[in-house]
Amino acid sequence: MNLISKWRSPSNIALIKYWGKYENQIPANPSLSFTLSECYTETSVALKEKKTDEPFSFEVFLDEIPKPGFKKKIEAFFTRIANEAGFLKEYHLEIRTANSFPHSSGIASSASGMSALALCLLSLKEKINEENFYQKASEWARLGSGSAARSIYGGLVEWGRHDNTLNSSDYWAIPYEGKTDPVFQIFCDTVLLVETGSKKVSSTAGHSLMKDHPFANKRFTQAHENLNLLYSAIEKGDLEQFGKIVESEALTLHAMMMTSYPYYLLMRPNTLRVIEEIWRFRRETSVPAYFTLDAGANVHLLFPRYAEQAVGKFVKEVLSPFLQNNKYICDHVGEGPAQIRI
Ligand code: DP6
Repeated sequence: MNLISKWRSPSNIALIKYWGKYENQIPANPSLSFTLSECYTETSVALKEKKTDEPFSFEVFLDEIPKPGFKKKIEAFFTRIANEAGFLKEYHLEIRTANSFPHSSGIASSASGMSALALCLLSLKEKINEENFYQKASEWARLGSGSAARSIYGGLVEWGRHDNTLNSSDYWAIPYEGKTDPVFQIFCDTVLLVETGSKKVSSTAGHSLMKDHPFANKRFTQAHENLNLLYSAIEKGDLEQFGKIVESEALTLHAMMMTSYPYYLLMRPNTLRVIEEIWRFRRETSVPAYFTLDAGANVHLLFPRYAEQAVGKFVKEVLSPFLQNNKYICDHVGEGPAQIRI
């Protein structure tokens, strides 16, 4: 048994959205994402002597500052994996974490945070070259936060049972194994920070509103169909088809929020202004840059590396006035998590 471990794990951006889940973090539909590179979390876990009778004894620090507010989600995660990770009940855990992106930037830190934590815990127990290490890490990460299951691998990653994907699973994510046109191998994501600060409605609460949602079943079927269409776009290098599906997925995600009961809105006026400007830029220049949204007001601008210069100029000159403090983060598709020797 190791007594300390540390990992760096990236965030990811979903192209086909996971929105709706069943008991035990089982997704209602399959999802596909790009793993990012520059937006990541670094976490270390140290096992110390336990001094209480509580089932779990642990402390969490973000940038060396205690964060008791993080404990609820982590405790739920520990409860779900306790059968397989018996040591969680035997030690006191010191969890230290730091994000590469500003904490209140509105970038989802649960995917990078929970995947880093799952990797730390698993590598206290198992060697990383053991068979199925990453599969188990993805399974544990899912039990911390669904989207975290996908951050265990680099590139395009799929999670959730899908008829057209051999070995797809609701329990863990798998690296996308279909043919990929080279244009999708070096893809960029500029995260446009429309509004920083925490969200009014958490993703976890949003997922649960899909339970009685009037359009839920149609939406879950659509995700399967969109995944098939996206496969074919990725294989052919068809950027236009890629963009149509990705933008439609983003708007559908937010449409689900607006038609939940209670209904809510996470887009802000500047989210819409940015989207309109992206459409205008594409119409006027034919540069293949497309947006997606996660469960918040920020906009992710996706484009192939060759368009970097044109998009960079557009972001700086046209979009940045709509962003909080004119801030954006230039990221690209990355290679997945890495263990840090300490
Ligand atoms: C909109 O993974 O944050 O980003 O499983 O409750 O932790 P929990 O939810 P979470 O949901 C992410 C939703 C999304 C879409 C996606 O990443 O696929």
